[in-house]
Amino acid sequence: MGSRTWLGLRRRLASLFHTFMLRLGVNIDHVATVREARYRGSPEGEPDPVAAAALCLEAGAHGITAHLREDRRHMQDRDIWRLRESLRTRLNLEMANCREIVEIALKVHPDIVCLVPERREEVTTEGGLDVAGQVGPLTETRQRMNDAGIEVSLFIAPDPPQVEAAARLGAQAIELHTGAFAGHFRDPAGRAREVDRLIAAARQAHGLGLRVNAGHGLNYENVAALEPVPHLVELNIGHSIVSRSIGVGLRQAVEEMLVLMARYPG
Ligand code: PXP
Repeated sequence: MGSRTWLGLRRRLASLFHTFMLRLGVNIDHVATVREARYRGSPEGEPDPVAAAALCLEAGAHGITAHLREDRRHMQDRDIWRLRESLRTRLNLEMANCREIVEIALKVHPDIVCLVPERREEVTTEGGLDVAGQVGPLTETRQRMNDAGIEVSLFIAPDPPQVEAAARLGAQAIELHTGAFAGHFRDPAGRAREVDRLIAAARQAHGLGLRVNAGHGLNYENVAALEPVPHLVELNIGHSIVSRSIGVGLRQAVEEMLVLMARYPG
């Protein structure tokens, strides 16, 4: 049986018997990064992250994650609005806890927001949110989002004080930062230590009533090593999926161009 057929069958059985299946949220920022490299400032351009989101969902992804950064380096406001209009599944909006983006989120109304730290000089979100150090402002945003019917997740390192603070301020979910796990993946001792941190944090969060997601740096090689981590509901994965799509799609893209060029009369 092909892997797609097997996956489809597993999905149908899972829904039939209400068994658990780890959910995948695809982070499509990287599609917009490619577009912005060529078309920054233009209202159009390719590749289109909204079309990419539709393909991810057709392939079976459970949700779409997009980060509207203050510097708009990849996703633009119009992308987030179009995603909201076109998606029938969950839209997870990653965002910094800053006034401008909070107001946009309250208008766009994603299903869930994931609050992340943001620094202009970073290439991608590098560290977890210091929830313990910003309980006041985060509680205010959490409350405003919840009042509007939007769930709140907090992107945090697997550290006990951060998990405890996330529960204290009333978040519905946390996303455990798997960057350190991914970074130490090739070092057996480091990998074991990071998996142990994730296990402990997931247990603690679950015990405190938080839903547990995870993401950052996950790829086709390291994702299976997360299996010992309990209570995971959703993984948010971006870079490795978008990278792999180049690997598996480039042949077809070149073949299609060669067909067009073969028409040249000479
Ligand atoms: N989750 C969060 C909160 C992130 O900031 C990112 C990176 O944008 C991801 C998941 C996805 O990380 P990656 O692109 O490394 O898969």
